[in-house]
Amino acid sequence: MNLTPKEIVEYLDQYVIGQKSAKKTIALALRTRYRRMQLDEDLQNEIMPKNILMIGSTGVGKTEISRRLAKMMRVPFIKVEASKYTEVGFVGRDVESMIRDLVVNAISIVKAEQEEANREKIDNYVINKIVEKLLPPLPEGASESKKDDYQRLLESMEKRVESGEMDDKIIELEVSKLNVEFDDTGLPPEMAKVQESFSKVFATINKEDNKKEVTVKDAKVLLRQEASQKLLDASSVNAEALRRAENGGIIFLDEIDKIALSEKSSGRNDPSKEGVQRDLLPIVEGSSVSTKYGTINTDHILFIAAGAFHVSKPSDLIPELQGRFPLRVELESLTEETLYQILTQTQNSLLKQYVALLSVEGMTLEFDDAAIRAIAKLAHRANENTEDIGARRLHTVLENILEEISFVADEYEGKTFTITKELVHEKLEEVVEDDDLSRYIL
Ligand SMILES: Nc1ncnc2c1ncn2[C@@H]1O[C@H](COP(=O)(O)OP(=O)(O)OP(=O)(O)O)[C@@H](O)[C@H]1O
Ligand SMILES: [Mg+2]
Repeated sequence: MNLTPKEIVEYLDQYVIGQKSAKKTIALALRTRYRRMQLDEDLQNEIMPKNILMIGSTGVGKTEISRRLAKMMRVPFIKVEASKYTEVGFVGRDVESMIRDLVVNAISIVKAEQEEANREKIDNYVINKIVEKLLPPLPEGASESKKDDYQRLLESMEKRVESGEMDDKIIELEVSKLNVEFDDTGLPPEMAKVQESFSKVFATINKEDNKKEVTVKDAKVLLRQEASQKLLDASSVNAEALRRAENGGIIFLDEIDKIALSEKSSGRNDPSKEGVQRDLLPIVEGSSVSTKYGTINTDHILFIAAGAFHVSKPSDLIPELQGRFPLRVELESLTEETLYQILTQTQNSLLKQYVALLSVEGMTLEFDDAAIRAIAKLAHRANENTEDIGARRLHTVLENILEEISFVADEYEGKTFTITKELVHEKLEEVVEDDDLSRYIL
């Protein structure tokens, strides 16, 4: 992945408005990893990633930034909620499991790449297997002309299978039980190994029962898995995945403020929060974690933490953990103008979503510019007067405006409906002016 910082920011700009400094810091951190990988190995080992802590009140785009990064990047990337983990020794997921999740993510990236590179081989394998089932084999000692005929038949059958013409035909397939993959990312590696050998044993016991009738269409999917298992070298996939997770892996640690201990509530604090923080230390600092696929060193994994820190402050994290997130970025709270831009300029804006949804009913929905301005203004005012919930306010405001029309949309088939400033005011003015009302409704 070698986008320049500028390109990364440009990409994020399509989805997240404002928040320049956060975008810049993250883009730079990503580029630094690319730069590091171009250096000598000695120097590479010296250069540690600088972990980032994003601070910003609720609904200003923290999670959104990470979601977009995850989609864009082809490096191993996972987003986890810090509040999901429990201290080692207690029931629940321990923090090391996030490293295992990262490795699983890396495996799927490498596998997809290798499958792409071996696409032709895999395609051939699948088609051949299916044709074998559809055509009875040529009897022994057939004459030359029979053989020629058969060859032609074979080729035309291959084409028909490939084109999808035979997709509805039913064939019998031996499904090897090894294909069944368990979701075992939460298991410690020792347990995962046990489970793996179990499934191998069962696979051999059940051999005969494994014949299954499936459509050619489904067979294509099943055989693809089998082909990639047979044709790709699993150990080299694992090694490459581990290497990438180690050097390029990024873990986005959302809701980190939820494991901080706030002073106000001290005394009656949940001790396991501090435990989770302590468990995080070695992982963030760099340690070895064993996974089903091999041992991984976490020295160079980049951590980006984010939190609203409404109740607690970054200084409520244990000092050792604070020190491991040297880069701090603050996200600004959203102004009226930003809210307007979020409505009009983002790729996946809420307005576009509503227009698309109602177009299914054959109705054309339009928004006057003045109406959009009014929506932004009212949303902003509601944020100021009650709680500031950032861009999430737009959801509730729009829902209020559009609920009625959305309900009767079928009556507007073939017609256009325009949301005007007057309509927005009519629906919302009273509610926004009245604090008590807006607490409940917006
Ligand atoms: N700056 C922004 N630009 C575009 N959309 C935004 C922006 N900020 C928030 N949104 C939208 O608002 C919604 C909530 O944002 P997000 O999930 O990023 O909040 P958050 O900062 O993670 O808040 P929390 O602390 O509550 O988790 C999302 O649908 C997102 O698209
Ligand atoms: Mg969030």
